[in-house]
Amino acid sequence: MLNSIIRLALPCVTLLCNVKLLNCEDLGTSILNLPHYDPSIPNPDDDLECLKLRDWNGPDDTSLPPNLCGMCPAGEHDLEPCDCINNRGSQAGLFSIECGPSTNWTTVDEIKEMIASADDALITTHVFRFTMTGTNVSGALKQDVWGRLDFHQVILDNNQIQQVDNHAFANSKETLTLLSIKNNEITYFHWDQLSDIPHLYQLLLQGNKLSFIPSDIFPQTDLAYLDLSRNQIIYIGPNAFSNLRKLSKLNLSYNQLEYLDDYMFSIAQHDLDPNNLIINLSNNKISYISPMAFADVRPININLSYNRLTSIEEEVFRPIIDATYYFLSVDLNNNFIVCNCDIAWILLDPTPIRGIFGNFQCYDTLGNQTGTSFLDLNPHDFLFCHTDVVIN
Ligand SMILES: *[C@@H]1O[C@H](CO)[C@@H](O)[C@H](O)[C@H]1NC(C)=O
Ligand SMILES: *[C@@H]1O[C@H](CO)[C@@H](O)[C@H](O)[C@H]1NC(C)=O
Ligand SMILES: *[C@@H]1O[C@H](CO)[C@@H](O)[C@H](O)[C@H]1NC(C)=O
Ligand SMILES: *[C@@H]1O[C@H](CO)[C@@H](O)[C@H](O)[C@H]1NC(C)=O
Ligand SMILES: *[C@@H]1O[C@H](CO)[C@@H](O)[C@H](O)[C@H]1NC(C)=O
Ligand SMILES: *[C@@H]1O[C@H](CO)[C@@H](O)[C@H](O)[C@H]1NC(C)=O
Repeated sequence: MLNSIIRLALPCVTLLCNVKLLNCEDLGTSILNLPHYDPSIPNPDDDLECLKLRDWNGPDDTSLPPNLCGMCPAGEHDLEPCDCINNRGSQAGLFSIECGPSTNWTTVDEIKEMIASADDALITTHVFRFTMTGTNVSGALKQDVWGRLDFHQVILDNNQIQQVDNHAFANSKETLTLLSIKNNEITYFHWDQLSDIPHLYQLLLQGNKLSFIPSDIFPQTDLAYLDLSRNQIIYIGPNAFSNLRKLSKLNLSYNQLEYLDDYMFSIAQHDLDPNNLIINLSNNKISYISPMAFADVRPININLSYNRLTSIEEEVFRPIIDATYYFLSVDLNNNFIVCNCDIAWILLDPTPIRGIFGNFQCYDTLGNQTGTSFLDLNPHDFLFCHTDVVIN
C-alpha cells in the first residue's frame, strides 16, 4: 500500500521539481506529506495532467494521460554517471537514459552496475531510449545487463562492443523498434535473437567487423531496415534474408563481397509496401552474379556501383526484369563494363529496358575507360550483333 502511494506520488513530484514548484532537496522521506496540487498555480511547461494520476493504476497501466509528468527517478544522482531525460508528448510515461564518454566506462559490467544501483529509485521500468555513445566499453552484451528495464530504442554507437549474445534484448520483446550499434567491434551477433524482438524495425550495424552471414539465419520478423555496410562481409549464405518479409532497405555497401551466389537475396513471400526494395551493394568487389542470386525478387533498386563487373548478362538481369515487371533500377557506375555485343540485348530490346541501367562509363577489356558512356551508345551500331549470333 505504502509502495503504491509512493509510486503514484513520485511522477507528480518529479514534474513539480522540473517546473521548480518544489525544493527537491527536501523531498526524501517526506514524500507522503506532499502539498496537494493547486490548479491555481500556473504551469510554464504544459497543462499539468498530474491530477489524472488519481485514476492511474501504476507503471503497468497503459492508459496514460497524454502529458504525464516526468518519469525520471526523483533523486538527481540516481542514474549517475548517466543523464536521465523526461519524455513528453507521445513518449510521456517513459524516460530516457543517456550515457556519454564522460562515464569513463570500459566494460559492459559498468552499465549493469549503474542500472542495478538505480533499481530502487525507479518509478517505472519502461524506458523510451537508452543511449551510450563514444565510450571505451567492450565485451559482450547479455540479457542480465539491463536489470528490469525495457526499451523502445537502444543506441550504442561508437563504442568497442565485440559481441551481442542471444536474448540480449529479450526484456524488450514487446517494445524494441530501433537497435543501433554502429561503429563498434562486433564480430559476433546472435541473429536468432531477432525472434525475441519481433517488432524491431531498424537494425543498424554498420562499421563493425562482421565477416559472414550464414544461410537461413534471420528468423521471421518485422525488420524493414538492415544496415550492414562497412563491415568485412565476404560471404552471405543462400536464403540468408529469406524470412525478412518486410525488408525494404538492405545496405551492404563497403564490404568484401566478390560473388553474388544462388538465392543470396531471395525473400520468400516478400510483403513489400508500395516502395521498392533497395539493396545497396556499392563499394564491394563483385565480379560475378549468379542468375539465381535474386530469384523471386520483388520490385527492386540495386546499387552495384564501385564493383568489378565487366558485363550486364542477359541471363542474370532478364529474369529480374520479368519478375519485377520492369520495376527495377540498377546503378552500374564505376565498374569495368565493356560495351560490346554482350549488352546488345539491352540496346535492341523493343521495350524501354535501357532506362533500368541508368548511365555508366564504358571500358575496354584491359579495364580502361573508352570515353564513351552507355547513354552515348547508338542501337544501330549493335544491329550486327544479332547477325553474328545467327552466323555462329
Ligand atoms: C578510450 O581509451 C583511449 C586509449 O586508452 C583514451 O585515449 C580515450 O580517452 C578513452 N576514451 C574514453 C571516452 O574514455
Ligand atoms: C573521467 O576521467 C577524467 C580524466 O581522467 C576525470 O577527470 C573524470 O572525473 C572522470 N569521470 C568520471 C565520471 O569518473
Ligand atoms: C548505406 O551505407 C553507406 C555507408 O555506411 C551510407 O553512406 C549510406 O547512406 C547508406 N545508405 C542508406 C540508404 O542508408
Ligand atoms: C549506397 O551507399 C552509398 C555509399 O556507400 C551511398 O552514397 C548511397 O546513397 C547508397 N544508396 C542507396 C540507394 O542506399
Ligand atoms: C549508389 O552508390 C553510390 C556511391 O557508392 C552513389 O554515389 C549513388 O548515388 C548511388 N546510386 C543510387 C541510385 O542511389
Ligand atoms: C590501360 O591502362 C594501363 C594501366 O592500367 C596502361 O598501362 C595502358 O597503357 C592503358 N591502355 C590504353 C590503351 O590506354
